[in-house]
Amino acid sequence: MIRMEFVNIYGAPPPDLVEVSATAMQFSPLVPGAADLAALPEASLESLAMLAPPGTLERRYALAQALRRLAPGAPFMALAPKDKGGARIAGDLTALGCPYLETARRHHRLCVAKGGGDPAAIATLIEEGGPRFLQNLGLWSQPGVFSWDRIDPGSAALLHHLPALSGAGADFGCGIGALARDVLRSSSVVSLALLDIDRRAIDMAKRNIVDPRARFQWADVLKADTLAGLDFVVMNPPFHEGGVENQALGQSFIRRAAASLRTGGVCWLTANRHLPYEAILKPLFRHASVVAETNGYKIFQARK
Ligand SMILES: C[S@@+](CC[C@H](N)C(=O)[O-])C[C@H]1O[C@@H](n2cnc3c(N)ncnc32)[C@H](O)[C@@H]1O
Repeated sequence: MIRMEFVNIYGAPPPDLVEVSATAMQFSPLVPGAADLAALPEASLESLAMLAPPGTLERRYALAQALRRLAPGAPFMALAPKDKGGARIAGDLTALGCPYLETARRHHRLCVAKGGGDPAAIATLIEEGGPRFLQNLGLWSQPGVFSWDRIDPGSAALLHHLPALSGAGADFGCGIGALARDVLRSSSVVSLALLDIDRRAIDMAKRNIVDPRARFQWADVLKADTLAGLDFVVMNPPFHEGGVENQALGQSFIRRAAASLRTGGVCWLTANRHLPYEAILKPLFRHASVVAETNGYKIFQARK
């Protein structure tokens, strides 16, 4: 066990397992404003505690970036719940040529290691988890972003029913820009604000949407300044947080959309059929209806 206060963190390691300085620098792409490990000079970081992400390619990429950016011998702790990638960290570090000591505490696996590793293996895993152009989608994407290598079926259903929109709008939780790309095909759209909490999604959306009408914001939709007077909002709202279903998140997105629209403005949204969005839409919009129900998804149109 490393007994030290970490001054650099990735994600939110549980405080009862890792001591973190109150002024620690954050490197998670899911925390707006955080620094990016990939932007640091190699071998420059003095320590890092990482709550390793669950997805295999994403986790290996993050571990490889950490080992590349840490100074040789700098303390590194990587941990995760056992059933959310924690059991894989040791194997990943072995593949990266990085010796470690593994312990198990409170349903987590913790690996203590030091900066360094096999440069060739590090380069390979950074390549495998980095941005890539997906020919089948015609879009840039990166492992770890939502539905990174396919169009989400809920989004596909919304795209199928979405009319040509007009005026000023927003895409809340834009991901890599799959919805925005279609929205901007309408020449009547004058502006589109794309917001997402995931820096990687915004970076990919910027590559995918090269259009002067698009504005990109790496931000938490629920904390960002409210956009006012919009003509439309499109969204496939999130309903998971940290791998756990959170219906309140999607409901908060709907409240945010209502607050951002002008009277008469329209919200188009797609949601899994089981999500209870009708009750939230009703008091916030003059008119809300299910336009289509297909493959387990509902497409709502709600007019303020
Ligand atoms: C269901 S996905 C939809 C992505 C994209 N619009 C699509 O259709 O493929 C929801 C998106 O919301 C983002 N997200 C989750 N919580 C957020 C928040 N509080 N603020 C902004 N974006 C958020 C996620 O990163 C994810 O990209």
